[in-house]
Amino acid sequence: MESRIIAKSIGFKPNEQCMISTAVSELGTNIVRYAGEGELILKPIIKRGKKGIEVVAEDNGPGIKDINLALKENYSTSKGLGVGLPGIKRLMHEFLMDPSRTKGTKITVRRWL
Ligand SMILES: Nc1ncnc2c1ncn2[C@@H]1O[C@H](COP(=O)(O)OP(=O)(O)O)[C@@H](O)[C@H]1O
Ligand SMILES: [Mg+2]
Repeated sequence: MESRIIAKSIGFKPNEQCMISTAVSELGTNIVRYAGEGELILKPIIKRGKKGIEVVAEDNGPGIKDINLALKENYSTSKGLGVGLPGIKRLMHEFLMDPSRTKGTKITVRRWL
Protein backbone atom coordinates (compact mmCIF):
# COMPACT_ATOMS: atom_id res chain seq x y z
CA MET A 1 0.00 0.00 0.00
CA GLU A 2 2.92 2.33 0.56
CA SER A 3 3.42 2.61 -3.20
CA ARG A 4 -0.04 4.22 -3.51
CA ILE A 5 0.88 6.83 -0.92
CA ILE A 6 4.14 7.63 -2.70
CA ALA A 7 2.31 7.82 -6.06
CA LYS A 8 -0.36 10.05 -4.54
CA SER A 9 2.23 12.38 -3.05
CA ILE A 10 3.77 12.83 -6.53
CA GLY A 11 0.37 13.82 -7.89
CA PHE A 12 -0.95 10.65 -9.53
CA LYS A 13 -4.73 10.25 -9.69
CA PRO A 14 -6.38 7.27 -7.91
CA ASN A 15 -6.57 5.11 -11.08
CA GLU A 16 -2.89 5.73 -11.77
CA GLN A 17 -2.01 5.03 -8.13
CA CYS A 18 -3.73 1.70 -8.64
CA MET A 19 -1.73 0.97 -11.83
CA ILE A 20 1.53 1.82 -10.07
CA SER A 21 0.79 -0.26 -6.98
CA THR A 22 -0.21 -3.20 -9.20
CA ALA A 23 3.10 -2.98 -11.07
CA VAL A 24 5.04 -2.74 -7.79
CA SER A 25 3.19 -5.71 -6.37
CA GLU A 26 3.84 -7.85 -9.48
CA LEU A 27 7.55 -6.98 -9.39
CA GLY A 28 7.67 -7.81 -5.68
CA THR A 29 5.82 -11.08 -6.17
CA ASN A 30 8.30 -12.11 -8.87
CA ILE A 31 11.27 -11.31 -6.62
CA VAL A 32 9.84 -13.44 -3.81
CA ARG A 33 8.77 -16.26 -6.14
CA TYR A 34 11.85 -16.52 -8.37
CA ALA A 35 14.71 -15.04 -6.38
CA GLY A 36 13.61 -15.41 -2.77
CA GLU A 37 14.77 -11.94 -1.86
CA GLY A 38 15.75 -8.66 -3.41
CA GLU A 39 15.10 -4.97 -3.39
CA LEU A 40 12.32 -2.69 -4.55
CA ILE A 41 13.11 1.00 -4.73
CA LEU A 42 10.47 3.63 -5.46
CA LYS A 43 11.38 7.22 -6.08
CA PRO A 44 9.96 10.43 -7.48
CA ILE A 45 11.73 11.53 -10.66
CA ILE A 46 11.73 14.65 -12.79
CA LYS A 47 12.85 15.10 -16.39
CA ARG A 48 12.50 18.32 -18.39
CA GLY A 49 9.99 19.61 -15.85
CA LYS A 50 7.91 16.46 -16.04
CA LYS A 51 7.30 14.54 -12.83
CA GLY A 52 7.01 10.81 -12.49
CA ILE A 53 7.78 7.74 -10.48
CA GLU A 54 10.57 5.22 -10.94
CA VAL A 55 10.50 1.70 -9.56
CA VAL A 56 13.64 -0.42 -9.56
CA ALA A 57 13.30 -4.12 -8.76
CA GLU A 58 16.60 -5.90 -8.27
CA ASP A 59 17.56 -9.37 -7.15
CA ASN A 60 20.41 -11.86 -7.35
CA GLY A 61 18.28 -14.82 -8.31
CA PRO A 62 18.52 -16.98 -11.45
CA GLY A 63 17.82 -14.07 -13.78
CA ILE A 64 15.64 -13.96 -16.90
CA LYS A 65 17.41 -15.54 -19.89
CA ASP A 66 14.94 -14.51 -22.59
CA ILE A 67 13.14 -11.28 -21.74
CA ASN A 68 11.02 -11.37 -24.93
CA LEU A 69 9.72 -14.76 -23.92
CA ALA A 70 9.13 -13.65 -20.32
CA LEU A 71 7.13 -10.69 -21.63
CA LYS A 72 4.81 -12.92 -23.63
CA GLU A 73 1.24 -13.06 -22.38
CA ASN A 74 0.63 -16.23 -20.31
CA TYR A 75 4.29 -17.34 -20.31
CA SER A 76 5.25 -18.70 -16.91
CA THR A 77 7.96 -21.02 -15.65
CA SER A 78 5.99 -21.55 -12.45
CA LYS A 79 2.30 -22.13 -12.18
CA GLY A 80 1.64 -18.43 -12.45
CA LEU A 81 -0.71 -16.78 -14.90
CA GLY A 82 2.17 -15.23 -16.80
CA VAL A 83 0.46 -11.87 -16.91
CA GLY A 84 2.76 -10.07 -14.45
CA LEU A 85 5.49 -8.73 -16.73
CA PRO A 86 3.28 -7.99 -19.78
CA GLY A 87 0.84 -6.28 -17.41
CA ILE A 88 3.58 -4.15 -15.89
CA LYS A 89 4.69 -3.16 -19.39
CA ARG A 90 1.19 -1.94 -20.20
CA LEU A 91 0.70 -0.14 -16.89
CA MET A 92 3.94 1.82 -17.02
CA HIS A 93 5.36 4.17 -19.66
CA GLU A 94 8.90 2.82 -19.63
CA PHE A 95 10.11 -0.72 -19.04
CA LEU A 96 13.85 -1.40 -19.00
CA MET A 97 15.78 -4.54 -18.22
CA ASP A 98 19.52 -4.39 -17.81
CA PRO A 99 20.80 -6.82 -20.49
CA SER A 100 24.45 -6.58 -19.42
CA ARG A 101 23.64 -8.24 -16.14
CA THR A 102 25.13 -11.70 -15.83
CA LYS A 103 23.53 -12.57 -12.52
CA GLY A 104 20.08 -11.82 -11.17
CA THR A 105 17.47 -9.45 -12.51
CA LYS A 106 17.16 -5.69 -12.58
CA ILE A 107 13.97 -4.17 -13.95
CA THR A 108 13.38 -0.42 -14.02
CA VAL A 109 9.93 0.97 -14.78
CA ARG A 110 8.70 4.55 -14.94
CA ARG A 111 5.40 6.30 -15.21
CA TRP A 112 5.00 10.01 -15.93
CA LEU A 113 2.27 12.33 -14.74
N1 LIG B 1 12.83 -11.65 -10.75
C1 LIG B 1 12.79 -12.71 -11.58
N2 LIG B 1 13.83 -13.61 -11.59
C2 LIG B 1 13.82 -14.66 -12.42
N3 LIG B 1 12.84 -14.93 -13.31
C3 LIG B 1 11.80 -14.08 -13.35
C4 LIG B 1 11.71 -12.94 -12.50
N4 LIG B 1 10.55 -12.27 -12.79
C5 LIG B 1 9.97 -12.97 -13.77
N5 LIG B 1 10.70 -14.05 -14.12
C6 LIG B 1 10.39 -15.03 -15.19
O1 LIG B 1 9.46 -14.45 -16.09
C7 LIG B 1 8.30 -15.28 -16.18
C8 LIG B 1 7.08 -14.41 -16.41
O2 LIG B 1 6.81 -13.59 -15.27
P1 LIG B 1 5.34 -13.04 -15.01
O3 LIG B 1 4.87 -12.39 -16.27
O4 LIG B 1 5.32 -12.23 -13.78
O5 LIG B 1 4.47 -14.37 -14.83
P2 LIG B 1 4.34 -15.39 -13.60
O6 LIG B 1 5.01 -14.76 -12.41
O7 LIG B 1 2.89 -15.58 -13.41
O8 LIG B 1 5.05 -16.65 -14.05
C9 LIG B 1 8.28 -16.06 -14.88
O9 LIG B 1 7.54 -17.27 -14.99
C10 LIG B 1 9.77 -16.31 -14.66
O10 LIG B 1 10.24 -17.38 -15.45
MG1 LIG C 1 4.69 -12.78 -11.84
